[in-house]
Amino acid sequence: MNLILLGMPGAGKGTQAEIIQKDFGIANISTGAMMREVSRSDTDLARKVQNYISSGTLVPNDIIIEMLVQRVGERDCEKGFLLDGFPRNLGQGQALDSANVAIDLVLYLSISEEEIVNRMSGRRVHPASGRSYHILYNPPKVDGFDDVTQEPLIQREDDAPEVIKKRLDVYYDETEPLLDFYRNKNLQFIEIDAAQSLDKVTKSIRESIAN
Ligand code: AP5
Repeated sequence: MNLILLGMPGAGKGTQAEIIQKDFGIANISTGAMMREVSRSDTDLARKVQNYISSGTLVPNDIIIEMLVQRVGERDCEKGFLLDGFPRNLGQGQALDSANVAIDLVLYLSISEEEIVNRMSGRRVHPASGRSYHILYNPPKVDGFDDVTQEPLIQREDDAPEVIKKRLDVYYDETEPLLDFYRNKNLQFIEIDAAQSLDKVTKSIRESIAN
């Protein structure tokens, strides 16, 4: 089972990806996490990537596509994989086709822009693992600290209000056209109401994958 999670920034893709990975034993590939990791090294590439992330724009296709296609060829993807944050534009969708990467299911997490702003402004993350919390909807056991490592949580710099706006503009311009791209393909495309509670979204996703 190879699947794609599509949805606006902050729709809950990363939160659900972590649960699906555990439930179904498939590889969880987040290009956002990959890019944040690249940005932490001391190279020209890292500095370029960091600029794209902090301004809320996409990392160019020539940087990301090769990395992703190589990643899905790795051994842990043999039983299946979940793509969180890729593809992000039509060029990336077409690149998966050209590389003969078969996709069985696309889950579209649908939600309003208003709710997105609530979610991203209350998000806190554990930088090393990417684990994501929300101060109200999904709080850690101890306020401000990761449940697993007890290390401090931070606010992502691209969750600042002006960057959120830019990320939403980029989503409408570049990512939203992928919805029709996948609706018109010979694969399962399922829309999930991502405004539901976290547990309800998980239940809908589990049912979609099991069917
Ligand atoms: P990326 O990390 O992929 O960011 P994103 O797609 O903008 O998605 P987010 O991580 O912000 O949100 P999410 O949907 O995972 O939501 P989450 O589960 O955390 O990308 C970052 C950057 O990297 C990009 O801007 C770009 O520069 C670059 N990049 C990445 N991929 C790229 C690509 N393919 N091409 C080019 N550039 C790329 O949930 C959000 C909050 O809501 C959390 O606080 C969570 O606890 C809470 N929450 C989740 N579900 C619920 C619920 N049901 N009810 C209440 N609260 C909930």
